[in-house]
Amino acid sequence: MLLVKWSLVDLESLKMNTVQEHYNNQLAAIYGWMAGSSEIAIKQNYDLLCQLGVDAQPKDLAIDLGAGLGFQSIPLAEMGFTVVAVDFCADLLAEWRDRAEKLAIRIVEDNILNFSKHIESKAALVVCMGDTITHLESFDAVRALIANIENVLTANGKLILTFRDYVSLELTGKQRFIPVKSDDSRILTCFLEYHPDIVEVHDLLYIKDGDRWLMHSSSYPKLRLDANWLCSEIKELGFQVVCNQIINGMICIVAQK
Ligand SMILES: C[S@@+](CC[C@H](N)C(=O)[O-])C[C@H]1O[C@@H](n2cnc3c(N)ncnc32)[C@H](O)[C@@H]1O
Repeated sequence: MLLVKWSLVDLESLKMNTVQEHYNNQLAAIYGWMAGSSEIAIKQNYDLLCQLGVDAQPKDLAIDLGAGLGFQSIPLAEMGFTVVAVDFCADLLAEWRDRAEKLAIRIVEDNILNFSKHIESKAALVVCMGDTITHLESFDAVRALIANIENVLTANGKLILTFRDYVSLELTGKQRFIPVKSDDSRILTCFLEYHPDIVEVHDLLYIKDGDRWLMHSSSYPKLRLDANWLCSEIKELGFQVVCNQIINGMICIVAQK
């Protein structure tokens, strides 16, 4: 019988990283594997964007904040938008740069808080989807980002946010261990540790190395963002909230300027 040895590779990485370090050192290399088929993710986002009425609005400039592997940028470009896709993770952006070049997508490697430096005209649409907004480091940063978005949107322009609810539901005990994905050579488990304003997300990745499993662990903070708080901030900044509901397991907020 094969004896399987488990070893802890990097004790240092048990300390919490910044979000950018976490993506650079841990998530970028496995994001595509974790997400599954890119084509399915792109189609699901295409359908969601249509459900939110995006296909029926003027196809001008759209900005994708936290673009990752392009799961929102690509369907937006296919609908006819000119897209600026912003993300600070170079390795993720490199994976679909060639495809972006064949579409009307300009990739920008930067912090989403700096996005407005990279655009020359007003935008009809800004999306920040797939739980990206919870990656910001504070509620003040969320407010500053929304204010900045309001500045760059055209009249009637839309903002779409989708993010996970870490507020109304707090997992306890063994519920906090979430099996994310596994195959013959990799196992990814996520452990959630709740603090008052953040949830510390521990990603535990086991990689098969011959007859051993090596563990890579890294954790990073996500904001526990209250949808009602966010909606009231959005309204105070001059938007009308036209949708605030759970879609595909995520809070989905659509706001119109
Ligand atoms: C959970 S992924 C979502 C990616 C994509 N929107 C999707 O739905 O698949 C979050 C993405 O946001 C990026 N990100 C997080 N915080 C960021 C920041 N402050 N500035 C730039 N990119 C950021 C990460 O690099 C990552 O690609």
